[in-house]
Amino acid sequence: MSVTVLIGAQWGDEGKGKVSCYLSQGARITARYSGGHNAGHTVIISGKKFKLHLIPSGVFYPETLAVLGNGMVIDPEALFEEIRALQESGYPCENIRISPFAHLIFPFHREIDVLMEKARGKNAIGTTRKGIGPAYADKAERTGIRVCDLLDKDRFNEKLRLNLEIKKERFSGLNGVLDIQLYTNFSERYVEKLIPYISDTSKIIQDAIRLDLPIICEGAQGMMLDLDFGTYPFVTSSAVTAGAVAVGLGIPPREVKKVIGIAKAYATRVGAGNFPTEEKDGVGVFLREHGNEYGTTTGRPRRCGWSDGLILKYGKKINGYSGLIITKLDVLTGLEEIKFCEAYQYKGGIFKEFPYDPAVFQEAVPVYRSFKGWDKEISHIRQRKDLPRACQEYLEFIEDYTETPIDLISVGEDRDQVIQS
Ligand code: IMP
Repeated sequence: MSVTVLIGAQWGDEGKGKVSCYLSQGARITARYSGGHNAGHTVIISGKKFKLHLIPSGVFYPETLAVLGNGMVIDPEALFEEIRALQESGYPCENIRISPFAHLIFPFHREIDVLMEKARGKNAIGTTRKGIGPAYADKAERTGIRVCDLLDKDRFNEKLRLNLEIKKERFSGLNGVLDIQLYTNFSERYVEKLIPYISDTSKIIQDAIRLDLPIICEGAQGMMLDLDFGTYPFVTSSAVTAGAVAVGLGIPPREVKKVIGIAKAYATRVGAGNFPTEEKDGVGVFLREHGNEYGTTTGRPRRCGWSDGLILKYGKKINGYSGLIITKLDVLTGLEEIKFCEAYQYKGGIFKEFPYDPAVFQEAVPVYRSFKGWDKEISHIRQRKDLPRACQEYLEFIEDYTETPIDLISVGEDRDQVIQS
């Protein structure tokens, strides 16, 4: 089993950081294949909390390489801030490897992100304002500047000049950040620091595949934020699904042996876009406070609600989950009733599969199955058979409904608070 892919099965924030950190123990490589510092992966090791945005969790293990793949967009300022914080905590970061083909995020991308959101008005996406969309737009438009461009000052300056000229034409309100003088030292400032990390990452990965060494591909965001299959336009600007691993890291698709969908025992969403199972008061507030549902990257309160089975099934079809990991099960402790959406009702009809028509999703009314809650604390439990009966019934239902086994259950914040199932 050399290549395992971890996919967020909902709208992001499923606890991928913790799970990836747990599964990366003994891995040769942990790799990110898409997104940028819009992601926020929280990892707690022996009570100490780390927030990772760009760097995969393999960074904590000296024998593991932490790869930032070509499919990512990298803000050097954010990257070096993250490296600094890790080094201060005793992690030297010498195991980080960055693809020369990853694209760079500049301050003007962040400004354009803000400007675009303002222009969208009531249709704003609620982006993280990190410049992710504008950087991927440059990539698709072929004006993007890549990590490898930093290696040649003249090439870098010429590409930047062209990019800024185009931006000036389009964004007249942005003069401040479009002044080339601002970036005169950019390549000098970052290139020396970046050089030690730049590597032929797809070769490193392929070499590890040849030796059958374990590789964990750490998805960012979640299935429903995927640019193609998510709830467009309320999505991120990159591919999130398992297929993106091939493109974002240079892994031949047939080498992917295992795809794991990670889902909370309930659901959350940040930013705009419909969320049929959202609970605005009562249970929603309970979940937010008990689950500390505030964004790792932006601090925004997350919208909370019940688990949506249609999304889990849809994600299974697109990604081919071989197993599920259920996180934050302990957060449900204390609720009298737990609900799980097993169909949508729309204009008198019942949908048992995720609808392709956005109008249906927009007005879908969830059809719930109800489960008994439990009030016994479960964070200390390490065997599934020791969980309260009601809790086991809820998990068994999820397995039956999704026709997917649950491989691992997370019952607390710490990396090691897990139940191998
Ligand atoms: P962007 O990726 O910053 O362009 O934001 C697009 C949408 O994706 C917004 O609704 C964000 O809140 C959401 N989003 C982006 N990254 C994450 C994440 O890591 N977790 C949860 N939501 C995210």
